[in-house]
Amino acid sequence: MKIRVFDNSHDAGVYVAALAEQVIEDHASPVLGLATGSTPIPFYEALVRLHQCGLDLAPVKTINLDEYIGLDPSHPQSYAWFMQNHLFSHVNIPKDQIYLPNGVASDLEAECRRYDEVIRKHPVHLQVLGIGINGHIGFNEPDDALLSQTHIVDLRQETVASNARFFHDIEEVPKRAITMGVQAILQADQIVLMAFGREKAQIVAKSVSGGVRTDVPASILNLHKQVTVVLDRDAAAELMDSSGRLRIR
Ligand code: F6R
Repeated sequence: MKIRVFDNSHDAGVYVAALAEQVIEDHASPVLGLATGSTPIPFYEALVRLHQCGLDLAPVKTINLDEYIGLDPSHPQSYAWFMQNHLFSHVNIPKDQIYLPNGVASDLEAECRRYDEVIRKHPVHLQVLGIGINGHIGFNEPDDALLSQTHIVDLRQETVASNARFFHDIEEVPKRAITMGVQAILQADQIVLMAFGREKAQIVAKSVSGGVRTDVPASILNLHKQVTVVLDRDAAAELMDSSGRLRIR
């Protein structure tokens, strides 16, 4: 694993956008695996700026990790809306090259299988991930086992509590989601895990240096050969020695 620590999330976002640009230029039909939440926002801002500076995103396909069950894409807290707001409405990715799970599908199991087919057809070149305070990636929550395929998940209470900051009331936070499984994540050619803020420091350290454990889903990334962990100083706090240098590389 490569670890890169930045002074702030803005600089980190610019770095990840540069990685994405490289992938976009290296492939005729580049596929980006995308996350939502507060963490990737500086990356989307930087990617939009790159687009305004001339980066053509027309050949890009995007595959999002997850979606809340029960929220229509027009709901302001749906991940479809988030993506529209932070990326898609500002760039030139054609609509039919954008993939998200449908959280209001009438047959959710069939929707999971449809999404696995999308992932199978469009292997991801660069997967961008955030990390939950409990170590989840996508919505692969800590458990006795991690599931490989796209599936329906009951969100853990700490995830619901953490995501309540985006809603008026914790009662409004959906308790279930559709998420890509860990196999799809690990199949990406390249993975970038982003984390910012002191509240992520402990779980980042556990994920990066604590061995592979299903109760820390992000630790599974240790099995992948091309992972870059992109942090700000706060999120890296537990990986630093007293002189501010990374203890592991
Ligand atoms: C969302 C996702 C989640 C988030 C994680 C961190 O698509 O995949 O794993 O990345 O919950 O969320 P933030 O960035 O809001 O702390």
